[in-house]
Amino acid sequence: MFNAHGLFLALLVPAHLATTAAPTASQPRAQASTRERTSLNVGWRFARFTSNPDALSYETLKPWILPAANDFLSAPKYKRPSEPGPGAKVSYVQVDFDDAKWEKLDLPHDWAIKGTFDAPGVGGGLGRLPINGVGWYRRRVSFDTGVIAAGKSVYLEMDGAMAYAAVWLNGNLVGGWPFGYNSFRLDLTPFVKAGENQLAIRLDNALDSSRWYPGAGIYRNVWLVVVDPVHVAYHGTYVTTSAVSPQAATIVLAVEIENVNSNSRQQVEVSTKVYELDPVTRKASGGAVATFPGARTNVAGGTKQTVNSSATITSPKLWGPPPKQHPNEYVAVSILSINGTAVDSYETPFGIRSIRYDANKGILINGEHVQIYGVCNHHDLGSLGTAFNVRAAERQIQMLQEMGGNALRTSHNPPAPGLLDITDRLGFLVMDEIFDTWNNAKTKNDFSRIFPDWHEPDLRSFVRRDRNHPSVISWSVGNELAEQSSSVGGATVKMLQDIVHKEDPTRQVTVGINNAGPGTQLTDTIDIIGLNYQGEGKGNSWTSTFPSFHSKYPNKLIWSTESASTVSSRGVYLFPVTSSKSAVVAANQGADPTTHHVSAYDLYAPSWAASPDKVFEQQDRHAFVAGEFVWTGWDYIGEPTPYDNSSRSSYFGIIDLAGFKKDRFFLYQARWRPELPMAHVLPHWTWPADRVGKVTPVHVCTSGDEAELFVNGVSAGRKKKGQYEYRLRWDAVTYAPGDIRVVAYKNGKEWASASRYTAGAAAALNVTADRTTIRGDAQDLSFVTAAVVDKDGRAVPQASNEISWSVLSGPGRIVSTDNGDPTDMVPFSSLKRRAFGGLALAVVRGEGKGDVVVEARAKGLLEARVVVRVE
Ligand SMILES: *[C@@H]1O[C@H](CO)[C@@H](O)[C@H](O)[C@H]1NC(C)=O
Ligand SMILES: *[C@@H]1O[C@H](CO)[C@@H](O)[C@H](O)[C@H]1NC(C)=O
Ligand SMILES: *[C@@H]1O[C@H](CO)[C@@H](O)[C@H](O)[C@H]1NC(C)=O
Ligand SMILES: *[C@@H]1O[C@H](CO)[C@@H](O)[C@H](O)[C@H]1NC(C)=O
Repeated sequence: MFNAHGLFLALLVPAHLATTAAPTASQPRAQASTRERTSLNVGWRFARFTSNPDALSYETLKPWILPAANDFLSAPKYKRPSEPGPGAKVSYVQVDFDDAKWEKLDLPHDWAIKGTFDAPGVGGGLGRLPINGVGWYRRRVSFDTGVIAAGKSVYLEMDGAMAYAAVWLNGNLVGGWPFGYNSFRLDLTPFVKAGENQLAIRLDNALDSSRWYPGAGIYRNVWLVVVDPVHVAYHGTYVTTSAVSPQAATIVLAVEIENVNSNSRQQVEVSTKVYELDPVTRKASGGAVATFPGARTNVAGGTKQTVNSSATITSPKLWGPPPKQHPNEYVAVSILSINGTAVDSYETPFGIRSIRYDANKGILINGEHVQIYGVCNHHDLGSLGTAFNVRAAERQIQMLQEMGGNALRTSHNPPAPGLLDITDRLGFLVMDEIFDTWNNAKTKNDFSRIFPDWHEPDLRSFVRRDRNHPSVISWSVGNELAEQSSSVGGATVKMLQDIVHKEDPTRQVTVGINNAGPGTQLTDTIDIIGLNYQGEGKGNSWTSTFPSFHSKYPNKLIWSTESASTVSSRGVYLFPVTSSKSAVVAANQGADPTTHHVSAYDLYAPSWAASPDKVFEQQDRHAFVAGEFVWTGWDYIGEPTPYDNSSRSSYFGIIDLAGFKKDRFFLYQARWRPELPMAHVLPHWTWPADRVGKVTPVHVCTSGDEAELFVNGVSAGRKKKGQYEYRLRWDAVTYAPGDIRVVAYKNGKEWASASRYTAGAAAALNVTADRTTIRGDAQDLSFVTAAVVDKDGRAVPQASNEISWSVLSGPGRIVSTDNGDPTDMVPFSSLKRRAFGGLALAVVRGEGKGDVVVEARAKGLLEARVVVRVE
């Protein structure tokens, strides 16, 4: 129907808006032409300007941008001005502008990630990368005359663009969407013509727009939708399930039909069938398992109508989190017909599950208690930046599952829609969060600037976008708001929560509260009490606010929306080690003011925070608490507390920025996967001569209940975990080269063991890939690790050799490198990088078919290779 300009690849079309319906004998198969949703990711030109090149601004564009909000206002109020929008004379929107000198690239794209860590005006908080400026993206799109003659509707759907997007087609200002984290749709229909069309998108990313690395650019997927004027609206279906049992479940489906680009009233028939969703292909599989009664409605030109119907499914396969439950998914395939001809086909993946919020028991899914073993993550994907990539996001979730994690808080903004497809498929629970600020700013140019105009459209479109995902168990409308204790905060939370309840009455709403106590208007109003740090007691204080909230609100669920904020650098152990369970980090107290590293004993946290061990104790002492969301699962770019003024990335992660596990990964695994026989011993045991004879505490994380430590073969004693003890500590051990070995026991029986050896001099590199077979779709990735080893193949834990990466042969490319060191200022695009704690990472992308040979070399060391097969 249309031809993309230049190279065109159809990439990963999510099932919920794919082009064809599941075929069945009894249902007319929708024509492939009913809805075409095609990736527009390939073949863009881009330029970034550090000062405004076009004299445009959100303020001048606003009257043309605000009408996009109408679909998400209870009372639509914006009328597009009759005069053509500004920018028509700007050269970048012209068809004949010569963009050949602009950078050629494919989306998703983060314009800042390859930069150097010295961007003027961008501090450590934002990761020092060049996120600011105006970015212009251009691309041609062609339509053949048939599309225009058939009067099709044409939409641009953007999963997210950072930030203040404004879109022109053929010199006409179409509209835009300011909030960089939200998805939006613009109607191109009035401006399309047969033949070549020029699309131009302007983004504007201000300095001081965020507290962490926001990324920059069109960092998520872009889609072009061509459909009949009568079609299912944007985010236009809503599935709820009720009376869920192993015997049967009731499915209620609302389908919103829009007839916007025509003047004629149409009688539309809606027929929907339900299929099982194949988790791999994301397509309907097998025959229909339920059929909704057909429904008819009249939709006048320029209006919308919602058609509701319900169906019963017998012996449903329920959706639930592993390990006890399984994330079964279904898909509802809705076909709209007029006069017996299918005009649209729309797929809505969903899951059947019940959820209960119990103030004393916590979260119950399908009647089973699920303690929340959650983490908070920001949206960047380490050295890949914020450019969304399915495999990089899936790797994050899979490693959290390996640790025993079962939940994610999308702190503090809407995630890429593709992330929720992953959490649905893997059975990972989600607290879906939208805002970090309301009326009051945290940084000068954050969302508070546009909160009055945009909170309602952003919130409604966000909930409508995500409410069919079974993994979403709660909505969060905010985090650590400046106005949390005031009456303004109380009124605002009520306004936001009312909107959410209207759009989705099935889930409870929460907010991250770090400063308000019980009895404020905000805590009186909110469904779920979400506490940041105060439940555990901040810093050196053990005073918990869990009891006072629980007694004030005996019917409200309470969880820790943020816990821990433990800081550490992987593999860097600093002495002396605190004898406390949790200590406030300071210079020479867990933190080295010279190297800017923080101790990997994982006992140190900022003044508001706590070690994992302290959090576990407070959660266990207050069993009514539904669980925690640890700050953070993965390290992220920006917010390098306590070295915000010098470092590039955070110290908070359980997993470092490169994806290497810090020691506390095993502390969480021991608690969250008690059935997994495991033991982990720290620190490493390869110290320089000046450590010999010095106190070097040895700590053990195990899912066992008891362990014996051997230092150079001699027992240092057998210890049993006491109540509220989560690691076993031998704090008086002195270092001597050799080895340490721990044998763990459970119920008196040997359960697991672990050891560390003193390595010799670095002699070679050892290269491994997380996956040695990947797809050649230019999206799939292999994460390749180089470890520095001695002549016997033992890891050299403090090695920092500079490693050079290359692809020797085959259809692959190294897209970035990292080592997880928050102080490393070598750009992520560099093929040379020091090892940190003996490890370095290269991210390899497959492009085509064949064997990719990846090599790592370092001066004086034997090089190593790995072969990644691209299929
Ligand atoms: C149809 O369902 C939607 C979404 O649940 C609801 O808002 C609306 O009130 C329902 N309409 C009718 C007529 O039941
Ligand atoms: C459907 O049929 C009616 C009556 O014959 C006609 O007026 C209308 O234009 C038809 N609609 C379409 C989309 O063919
Ligand atoms: C970082 O810089 C800010 C502003 O110059 C200053 O107020 C703060 O004390 C510095 N922090 C540290 C840890 O040096
Ligand atoms: C070296 O690579 C092999 C796989 O090729 C792996 O099993 C081993 O753990 C690696 N050793 C180190 C120290 O990373």
